[in-house]
Amino acid sequence: MLQRMILTVVVPCYNERANVAPMVAALDAALSGLTWEVVFVDDDSPDGTAQAVREIARVDSRVRCLRRIGRRGLSSAVIEGTLSSSADFIAVIDGDLQHDETRLPLMLAAVQSGADLAVGSRYVEGGDSEGLSSPFRVKLSNIGIRIAQMVTGTKITDPMSGFFLLPRALFERLAARLTGQGFKILLDLIMASPEKLSIAEIPYKFRSRTAGESKLDALVLVQFAGLLIDKILRGVVPLRFIAFTLVGAFGVLVNVLVLEFARAAGEGFATAQTIGTVAAMIANFQLNNQLTYRGQRLKGARAWRGLILFLVVCSLGSVANIGIARALYAANGRSILSGAAGAVIGVVWNYAVSATLVWRGR
Ligand code: GDD
Ligand code: MN
Repeated sequence: MLQRMILTVVVPCYNERANVAPMVAALDAALSGLTWEVVFVDDDSPDGTAQAVREIARVDSRVRCLRRIGRRGLSSAVIEGTLSSSADFIAVIDGDLQHDETRLPLMLAAVQSGADLAVGSRYVEGGDSEGLSSPFRVKLSNIGIRIAQMVTGTKITDPMSGFFLLPRALFERLAARLTGQGFKILLDLIMASPEKLSIAEIPYKFRSRTAGESKLDALVLVQFAGLLIDKILRGVVPLRFIAFTLVGAFGVLVNVLVLEFARAAGEGFATAQTIGTVAAMIANFQLNNQLTYRGQRLKGARAWRGLILFLVVCSLGSVANIGIARALYAANGRSILSGAAGAVIGVVWNYAVSATLVWRGR
C-alpha cells in the first residue's frame, strides 16, 4: 500500500557520528503512527557521519543521507535537505539530541490546525534552556534574541531556535529569498516572508549534549551579524562584499598601528608605511580566509599560495587606488573626494579579483 509522506525531518549534522543511531531510534519512538522520513544533511564530516547514516539507510527506507562536498553551513544544509523532500511538512531538528523530538507531534498538530510555523522554544512557559553550555552562552543567547526581535519585528521568544516545523509549500515559496548564510535558518525564514507569519511556540527542554561538540563559535556570531546587516540592506550589496570591506577597514587600523610602531622604532616614513601595509595585507588575508571565505577556506600549501596571490592582487589594487586618486585630484583639486574614490575603486578591485583568483569555488 502506498502511503502519503506526511513529514520529512531534516537533520543538519557535522561530526555527529555517535548521535545518528540514537537519533533515528528517538524519531522512531516519537513519530509512531505517522508516515515520516529523515534526511541527514552531512557536510562530509571527517568522523564518518555519512557512513553511519548509510548503514542504517540500507535497511531502513525512512532514512536518507545527503552528503555535501566542499561546503559547510548549517543554514544551507537545512535548505538543501528540505528541497530534497516531497512531504507535506518539514521539521528541522539538530542532530545532537539537544532538541526534544517528542514535541514533534505537537508541533505538527499546531501547523495542521492553521499556524504557518511551529517553533520549539526554550523560553515559553514549560521550556528550559539549561542545556546551554555556559553562562557566557546564556548571555549571548539573550542578546541575540533581543536584536533578532528588533530586526524582525516579531515577539517570538526563541528566534534563534534551530527546532521548528512548517508546511513544505511555505518553505518552497520562501526558498529563493533565503540568504542561506550562517547558523540562523529560522530567522532567515521569518525575515524572508513578505507577510507576517503566524507562529505557534511549543515549549521544550534544551538538553545537554552527550556526544560530539558544539560548532558555534565567535565566527558564527560574526556571520549572524552579517545576516542581520544583509536583511537591513535588503540584499542589494552582497554579504561577502560587506565582510570584505569590514576586514579592509580593520586592515587600515593594523596598517596605522604598525606604521606608528615602526616609526617609534626609528624607521623612516616610507619603510614604516611599507611594513604597515604588508602587515595589514597579511592580517586581511587571514581574516578573509577565516571569515569572509569560511566556506572555502584555504589550508596548508594552498593557503600560502593564496596569501601570495592576495598580496599581488592588493598591491595592484593600491596602485589603482593611488593612480585614480591622483588623476582625480589633478582634475578637481578636492583631496577627500579624490582619496575616497580611489579607495572605493581599490576595495572593489580587491574584492572582485580575489573572489575569483584567490578563493575561487571548486
Ligand atoms: N551540515 C552541517 N553543516 N551541519 C552543521 C554545521 C555545518 O556546517 N554546523 C553545525 N551543524 C549541525 C550540528 O552537527 C548539529 O546537529 C546542529 O547543526 C547544531 O549545531 P551545534 O553545534 O550543536 O549548535 P549549538 O548546540 O551550539 O546551537 C544550538 O542552539 C542554537 C541557538 O542558540 C542549535 O539548536 C542551533 O540550531 C540553535 O540555533
Ligand atoms: Mn547542539
